[in-house]
Amino acid sequence: MILWVLLVAVGLSGGIGGSPAVTVPIDVASENSKKPIVVVDVEEEIEVVMETGELNPSHYPAQRAAKVVQHYLNTQHGSPYKVFGQGKVFKAFAEDVPGSGRKYQLELSVEEIVHKQIKIKTSAEVIFPREQSHPPLQVRVSSNDDFLKINTSVQEEAFYQQHKTNQSLFAQNLPDSYGHIEPEHVPIWHLGIVVSSFVMLNQSTEDTLYNMAQVANVTQMASDEDLLEFEYDVLLHEMVSQEIIAWKVLATWSPPEGVKILKMEKRDYVVNNLKTTLL
Ligand SMILES: *[C@@H]1O[C@H](CO)[C@@H](O)[C@H](O)[C@H]1NC(C)=O
Ligand SMILES: *[C@@H]1O[C@H](CO)[C@@H](O)[C@H](O)[C@H]1NC(C)=O
Ligand SMILES: *[C@@H]1O[C@H](CO)[C@@H](O)[C@H](O)[C@H]1NC(C)=O
Ligand SMILES: *[C@@H]1O[C@H](CO)[C@@H](O)[C@H](O)[C@H]1NC(C)=O
Repeated sequence: MILWVLLVAVGLSGGIGGSPAVTVPIDVASENSKKPIVVVDVEEEIEVVMETGELNPSHYPAQRAAKVVQHYLNTQHGSPYKVFGQGKVFKAFAEDVPGSGRKYQLELSVEEIVHKQIKIKTSAEVIFPREQSHPPLQVRVSSNDDFLKINTSVQEEAFYQQHKTNQSLFAQNLPDSYGHIEPEHVPIWHLGIVVSSFVMLNQSTEDTLYNMAQVANVTQMASDEDLLEFEYDVLLHEMVSQEIIAWKVLATWSPPEGVKILKMEKRDYVVNNLKTTLL
């Protein structure tokens, strides 16, 4: 119960790219509202929330599975001008599937955050492995022509040409501690969110909820090939453990090829001061 309260506090404090609307069950909130928060027994609380059957769409298990769908869509469709954030979960259902793990079926909307008006309704399935013998995390999203209708080819081509001609892009702290990003750096920040989604999808389990917190550094690497290459230092916020985790990711992008990850490396430190890195 105490865990729910902490999560809400964090949920409200932000997180970029659509922090999930985690809601507190009313009875729990009022019961805990006057008590100081002292001990968090994460293990125990997670057991409690692993429900089966129809789930409350606004509660944590459904939101976690929906977050994985968001990261997945970024890996499939993301670009400097196309980034998916979480919209709403309308329906969620969970069940154990022998030999595969735990399956979540969701009806949800996702929001394309660069063109805020675009909300896409779709259904998706996420299977989290629970044992070594299970296949890795599986995500399926119903095919939906709406994903293809977001046509950013003109902007993408312009960005590509600009940074192909001048391969010296460098930026830090996107956004800065005031939440500000220079307009010229917004596309490279968006690409940083997409690149981070590859890491977050890879790292996600049934017990995690990752948001991208900040692009700490991004440096363009010179490339003779028909693509742009960037080295990102990104800070990811894992809401369950409350850690800010730094990753170095080398990625390429071009309009026809999309984003490809050449290398991802977890740094051996976590950032402890949330306030300086989160909005
Ligand atoms: C996107 O728009 C461009 C320019 O308007 C057009 O040439 C291209 O065919 C469109 N692509 C898709 C997939 O609709
Ligand atoms: C290349 O871009 C950098 C910043 O990204 C800028 O400072 C520099 O002046 C540009 N060089 C040329 C030749 O345009
Ligand atoms: C994460 O990436 C590593 C290295 O690329 C890969 O071996 C592993 O299977 C990936 N895990 C998942 C769950 O995708
Ligand atoms: C960003 O770059 C600076 C300077 O190179 C370095 O000190 C810092 O550790 C980098 N940030 C991260 C999160 O890797």
